[in-house]
Amino acid sequence: MSDSDTHIPGGKLVLVEFDEGIAWVSMNRPEKRNAMNPALNSEMLAVLDALEVDDRCGVVVLTGSGDSYSAGMDLKEFFRESDSLAPEAWHQISRVAQTWQVTRLRHYPKPTIAMVNGWCFGGAFNSLVACDLAIAAEEAIFGLSEVNWGIIPAGNVLKSVAEVMTTRDGLYYTLTGETFDGRKAADMKLVNIAVPKAELRERTRALAKTLLSKNRAAVRAAKHAFRRVEALSWDDSEDYLAAKLDQLRLTDPEGGRNEGMRQFLDAKTYRPGLGGYQRTHKDSDKA
Ligand code: ACO
Repeated sequence: MSDSDTHIPGGKLVLVEFDEGIAWVSMNRPEKRNAMNPALNSEMLAVLDALEVDDRCGVVVLTGSGDSYSAGMDLKEFFRESDSLAPEAWHQISRVAQTWQVTRLRHYPKPTIAMVNGWCFGGAFNSLVACDLAIAAEEAIFGLSEVNWGIIPAGNVLKSVAEVMTTRDGLYYTLTGETFDGRKAADMKLVNIAVPKAELRERTRALAKTLLSKNRAAVRAAKHAFRRVEALSWDDSEDYLAAKLDQLRLTDPEGGRNEGMRQFLDAKTYRPGLGGYQRTHKDSDKA
């Protein structure tokens, strides 16, 4: 961590590195291929809560230490050792996992990128899908392995899969348990792009920098709106988006709408089809 003034939880099973507005967040159990045990899940939830209000973080990149993104839920600590728990205790453990992997990430107020650097199995599909964007190493290996050991992709993994994969692809990999690589993941649009592993970090950094260069209030409103309209009727969606647009005009500290109009219509210094308007607003130096 480059700036130790503000305390960020974690540092053990979840690592955070700040880098010019990017928070690189790593699941950190490389000796267990970053399998997610209850302790990692709790630490991740605390880290995401802290980064939400930390100015050093403008974009979250979620990845894994070593050669794995994550080998899924920890089969020993998350499952077998939970078999003897009372239903209430199991519910608590499972809720923490669901909260960070699905609820928090899907509606996170800052843009998120999943950087799949290696093994990505089962439960790891939740965070992969919940992040706004995903980039994978071509060499990364993905698998919905549940069927191979007699369970189904529960914990909302199938819901995540069904959101981004076609019925044909989703059912094929769910029912066969076959693995596939990053190139195939990109072909199926499970990730946005796949690049050689040697280029993964730099390509991810460039993508994060692009997001950081945009009007932050507009990015936040757009990603929230995208998630919300999925579940709305056309009429409700129209009304919701209109309200969101009005809200943005009131809350955008850089007045992007007026500034863009001014540059295009009055100053004639900007063509929307050729890139973003010239931002006069400066984000904090740190983020
Ligand atoms: N849960 C618990 N421990 C795990 C998991 C996991 N999901 N994945 C790996 N580990 C542990 C191994 O048990 C091993 O521990 P040990 O050193 O104490 O024996 C250690 O991590 C290293 O694993 P290896 O299998 O030795 O590593 P390798 O590089 O050869 O293989 C691979 C990696 C392919 C990811 C393999 O570990 C594997 O298949 N893991 C399980 C993948 C899976 O099916 N995940 C569950 C999906 S279902 C769900 O998430 C709900």
